[in-house]
Amino acid sequence: MEQATAIPHVLIFPLPVQGHVTSMLKLAELLSLAGGGGIRVTFLNSDYNHTRLIQFSDAESRFRNYPAFQFKTIDDGLPMDQLTKGQKVSELVGAMGSKTRPVFKDSLVQMDPPVTCVIGDGALGFISEVSLELGIPNIRFRTISTCFFWINFWLPEIIQAGELPIQGEEDMDRMITKVPGTESFLRCRDLPAYCRGRSDEPTLLRIVRATRESSSPPYPLILNTFDELDGPILALVHHRLPKTYAIGPLHEHLRSRLHTTSYSSPSSSLWKEEASCLTWLDSQPLGSVLYVNFGSITMMRRDQAVEFWEGLINSKNRFLWVIRPGSVCFDEEMGCDNMPEELVEGVEKGNLKVLVGWAPQEEVLGHDAVGGFLTHSGWNSTLESIVAGVPMICWPFFADQQVNSRVVSEVLKLGLDMKDVCDRRVVERMVNELMVEKKEEFGRKAAEMARMAKESVKEGGSSYRDLELLIEDIKSQAQ
Ligand code: UDX
Repeated sequence: MEQATAIPHVLIFPLPVQGHVTSMLKLAELLSLAGGGGIRVTFLNSDYNHTRLIQFSDAESRFRNYPAFQFKTIDDGLPMDQLTKGQKVSELVGAMGSKTRPVFKDSLVQMDPPVTCVIGDGALGFISEVSLELGIPNIRFRTISTCFFWINFWLPEIIQAGELPIQGEEDMDRMITKVPGTESFLRCRDLPAYCRGRSDEPTLLRIVRATRESSSPPYPLILNTFDELDGPILALVHHRLPKTYAIGPLHEHLRSRLHTTSYSSPSSSLWKEEASCLTWLDSQPLGSVLYVNFGSITMMRRDQAVEFWEGLINSKNRFLWVIRPGSVCFDEEMGCDNMPEELVEGVEKGNLKVLVGWAPQEEVLGHDAVGGFLTHSGWNSTLESIVAGVPMICWPFFADQQVNSRVVSEVLKLGLDMKDVCDRRVVERMVNELMVEKKEEFGRKAAEMARMAKESVKEGGSSYRDLELLIEDIKSQAQ
């Protein structure tokens, strides 16, 4: 008779915020599909986000198709009204480290059948620590870009060489030399926001410590990217961490393995998707609309929102701006009154639409009317734009976004990087450059990269191969 432990049982545990849940749920579905029922999958979500996921996406009914799949939930240590209180991700990570960690350990011990492999979000260090304490093989999943992951790896060398701290605004364009593979494009300005202060700033030191402590011995790692996009840096990562699986773009990979003809991969939204923007797009000319969206976490100041609004209007281009409720004007002291009514209430007139809500973003980016994307450069958004062949204007806020925007503009040549200058004249100029003057040039590049992204997840492609390797390794761990 077959031993219970011979069937692999993977536990997938994301940091419970949209960008992380999105990509790790796609992985859960890929493993459920590709394992052909031969891999059990448990997806561990926070109570709070699971309620939202069930309410606003079709995840529950979809996963009923996979008999070896189950959702489990866990307390994230924060109150259930966290969203309305504008909870910061750092507070969530802190609460989970202290309150969720012991609960996680108990539930991992009790899991039946026993878990044979934990795929934990690399942003939550305690997942790998607890798994290793219990002797359960662990694979880290990083939802961030490969380049950002790699830069963090080299932060100690950057500090040691005196390349940090940055000496004020006039020092921002100085090149960083200590990160192999990035010497030709990485400036101080493109480092993560936590590098902009003193070099003994606590967040920076915490990241340096965590990165160093966890990189030896080498650990298995999953990245949401593909060879043709990140080849040179991926090769360097492979050298340090030989068990690195580059299996992205995950949303396209899932679509491909589901053989779906729909433009979007299955939804994992934590907000209600408003389809009205698709209806509006149906009435717009081909490739004419700039889609504007700044993701699931960023908060924009009132003055910045006004500069974007004026710049977009002055550019005279068509645009669809989707504003997550509560994401503009976070600081009462900045004066939230005098906010353009259109950005508070939403508007639909002539060549523009402002929707205060949540868009089915993959479908929007895949719509024929969309010709450009003004984005915060979150890694999921960047990959979704790449797959849809849509060039970008990047206005990064934090985390990997500063470097993603540089890679998009300077390395991949898929768009323009606006970082650090929020001015209506710059917005107007860049919108016209992307949507009119260099439309064909950017369009050609974007179409070529989209083609390569789609090839990578087909049989024979690099991401397809890495997913097969990952599945093999998960199965062999259970023997
Ligand atoms: C953040 C970081 O910026 C990102 O780089 C990291 O990898 C994860 O955490 P976030 O700000 O949420 O992520 O951005 P992003 O990674 O782009 O993820 C947002 C997701 O929400 C995308 O999949 C996007 O399609 C979806 N979305 C966003 C919608 O479906 N509708 C919307 O209206 C806005």
